[in-house]
This record gives sequence, structure tokens and C-alpha cells, in this order.
Amino acid sequence: MPADTVTWRDNALTIIDQTLLPTEYRKIRLARVADVWHAIKTLKIRGAPAIGVCAAFGVLVAVKEKAPNNTVDAVRAAIQAADYLATSRPTAVNLFWALSRMKRVADSCRDAQDPQAVWQALEAEAKTICDEDRQMCRAIGNHGAGLIHDGDGVLTHCNAGGLATSDYGTALAVMFRAHEIGRRFHVFADETRPLLQGARLTAWELVEAGIDATVICDNMAAQVMREGRIQLVIVGADRIAANGDTANKIGTYGVALLAKAHNIPFYVAAPSSTFDLSIESGEAIPIEQRDPAEVTHGFGRQTAPAGVGVYNPAFDVTPAELVTAFITEKGLLRPPYRKEIAAQS
Ligand code: MRU
Repeated sequence: MPADTVTWRDNALTIIDQTLLPTEYRKIRLARVADVWHAIKTLKIRGAPAIGVCAAFGVLVAVKEKAPNNTVDAVRAAIQAADYLATSRPTAVNLFWALSRMKRVADSCRDAQDPQAVWQALEAEAKTICDEDRQMCRAIGNHGAGLIHDGDGVLTHCNAGGLATSDYGTALAVMFRAHEIGRRFHVFADETRPLLQGARLTAWELVEAGIDATVICDNMAAQVMREGRIQLVIVGADRIAANGDTANKIGTYGVALLAKAHNIPFYVAAPSSTFDLSIESGEAIPIEQRDPAEVTHGFGRQTAPAGVGVYNPAFDVTPAELVTAFITEKGLLRPPYRKEIAAQS
């Protein structure tokens, strides 16, 4: 799994440009806050925890860019940057969670001696957000690995791996850990239209880790389940409401329905930064609408006639009753979710 999804070194922010994978592994420097916003918007960096971590460091990029010479300007630069970066994508709550932590720290620095003190406090917070994410992913892997048994087929959707987090993933953390402890299993990765995070990123991570993997088109999952090849589904999440309703990559809801129809357990792996207790149910989760060209001109080739209508929601919401359990850094949460989720927060 890549440990370099987001790197902060010598006051510089570097990410892997995920739009180039799997054919090119290139790191790019994000030198301006507008670069950070653009990288998140265009999915050069993507995955709920990863965009939160990247945005936290993005606040530092903004402060460096402004080069404030007093405390007031440093605090203002940080708060403005956080507000700006929050406009990049609407669904993954980890983005807002990380940015509100950065804002809180900026706010607490209003009486700081000089801009350097503001910088140090912000840098410490961003590093903590990153380290905590790493630890949460490892814990998710440990808690979930026992769900995978020898001979199992595991279906996943989109990419909830190291590329989507600080280093180890959420859904894929469970698979990485199961692999490390010697479980022999097979992963089916939905290709995940329209941007192919499953085929391009999840399959890449699994192959790199030496885990047996097969890519299937999204519309093959029902048949593969019916053939008895899938024993469990594990996916990540972008936002989980207080009642357990779960937003994740478009197509996840369909996979959950298929799992139910075939009596296959459906697990959601997510850190506490993905739970949004301010939202009662999935109905209130904002769903990002993306450029129609992602559907009509995927990867450069026109595949639909000019002038046709396109609907391109990037996420859907899986109702809590379709989730067998949540795998969090604190352990497995089972229904009734409202109580369980409130208790672990
Ligand atoms: O549009 P993306 O690629 O950012 O969507 C990512 C997902 O839906 C992931 O499954 C989710 O963020 C969980 S990542 C651990």
C-alpha cells in the first residue's frame, strides 16, 4: 500500500497524482492553495480521509503563500484557506472535519506572539490529523481482518485503500491485514464507473500487495454473487449519518441491495472522522454532482451522442438496514446503529 498518498516534508505538500494511475506513478507538488483545491476537485487526490488530510496541509500551503508578517494576518490566512478548501467537494465529511480542526487551532492562536507560533500550531495539528488517520486505518485493519476466512471471495467498490487515506486504507486495510496474517482469499474489484477508481486504483493496490484480485465491470456483480464467488462485501464510506445511513461512491447502494438478495454480509469500514452525528439520516447528506463529460467522454473517447442528457451523481446512500456491521478503529458496530454510533463517538 502506498505510504506517500500525502506527504508533508520541508514545508512542502506532495501527493501522488491518482488520475495517472495505474500506468504512471507520479508525485506532484502542490505549491499554492489553488493547486490544492484543484487537486481535490479533479480527483488527483481523492478518498474521504485523504482529502481531509490533504486539505489540512493545504491550509499551511496557503499561509506560506501569503507570508503574513503578523499574527492577525496569519490567523486570517488560515481561516480563509479553510473556508475556500471546504468548497472543493461536498460529500466526504472528513474534509470538513479536518478543516474545522484547523480553523479551531487558528482561532486559538489569535493571541500568539508572532506568525511563526501560528504556523507551528497549525503544522502540529495537520501532522496530528495525518498520524491519527494512519493509526485509525491500522486499527480498522486489525478489527476487520477476522471477518475474512480462507477461500473467501471479497467484493469491494471504488477505492478505499492506501490511496484514499494516509497509508493503509479502510476497506482495503481489512484485506491487507488479513493477507498479512496469512489468510488466503480472492478480491473482486468493481471497476467503478465513471472514473474507474476500482479498476485503476484498487486493482493497482491489490496487485502491488500481492493479493489475488479480479476486476469486474459494475454490472457483473449480481452474476458473480449468484455464481457463489462472493462471501462478503467490504466498502468504505464518505459520510455516515447518526442512524447509520452511509454515503459512498455511486453504485454502492446497488451492491448492498445485491448482497441482501444473495444473503451476503455487507460491511462498511470507516474511521470516526467519517461519522457525521449532526446529520440524522442519509437524506441530509449532500451528494456531489459531477461533470457530464466524465460519463460521455470517459478517458478521452466520446461514448455518447452530443446533446444527450447526462446525470452524474458521484455518490449514493445505502440505508443503514442493509449494513451488516461497521468496522471502525474502535471495533465492530452492529445494529441498532443509532445507539452504537452515539456510544462510540
Ligand atoms: O470520488 P472519490 O474517488 O473520492 O470517492 C471515494 C469513495 O467513495 C471511497 O469509497 C470513500 O471515500 C472511502 S475512502 C477510505
